[in-house]
Amino acid sequence: MLIAQISDMHIKAPGELLYRRIDTPNHLACAVVHINALRPRPDVVLATGDLVEGGRADEYAHLRDLLAPLAMPVFLVPGNHDRRATLREAFADHAYLPATGFIQYAVEGFPVRLIGLDTLVEGKGHGALCDQRLGWLEARLGESARPTVLFLHHPPFDCGIDSFDGMRLNEGAERLAAIVRRHPHVERVMCGHVHRPIQMRWAGTLASIAPSTAHQATLDLQPDAPLSLMMEPPGLALHLWRSGNGLVTHVSYTGTYEGPQPFRPLT
Ligand SMILES: [Fe+2]
Ligand SMILES: [Fe+2]
Repeated sequence: MLIAQISDMHIKAPGELLYRRIDTPNHLACAVVHINALRPRPDVVLATGDLVEGGRADEYAHLRDLLAPLAMPVFLVPGNHDRRATLREAFADHAYLPATGFIQYAVEGFPVRLIGLDTLVEGKGHGALCDQRLGWLEARLGESARPTVLFLHHPPFDCGIDSFDGMRLNEGAERLAAIVRRHPHVERVMCGHVHRPIQMRWAGTLASIAPSTAHQATLDLQPDAPLSLMMEPPGLALHLWRSGNGLVTHVSYTGTYEGPQPFRPLT
């Protein structure tokens, strides 16, 4: 099974650029072409939040058009830039989306069980998992000991970039860690939000963050470094599950690069 994880697409309405500069819709269009061209083709796409920039209906309509060419199902969870009501309205035919309340769900039918979590606190940058959301997760994890991945927007750990660590999963991270520790079949905790590829051993499993399909956060590990972005190569995460081997993660850059060529001088 091959899982493509896209994150932090920050889609604007048609004709609008993010910060009057970054063509986030075009970056997502490139990622969709890239995913469809991969061989083997991913079985599923997980989109880990900040799907659009302002939570607006015209942005979600644009996102929908941009995702439509995907040759495989896509599953959405909200980030801090999203709004539940407008997201639901735009994707009313996505049957996995709960009609009310938090946007959490389990996806069956693949070798790895996929559980989406909703860390959104509307109007805030940081994330939270309350008793209701964590209780739901604990019940789902208790249903099956099959290999499972969790996907959510806000990482539950400090990554060393201070401005993001101040707005990570600030509420519920320790209780989430306790639940994950009790369920060792959680193969991975897949996050977004930081716009960089990052990994950490966490709660007895691996927690990872996917890069953005558009702009990346500046890698500045100095204390209190200001929040800023860099136009480093956009990308996505590819998680390959093989029975007997487990889950291995690659970063795939979506631009055009020289190669491939053999590991020797070209004649
Ligand atoms: Fe983001
Ligand atoms: Fe975010």
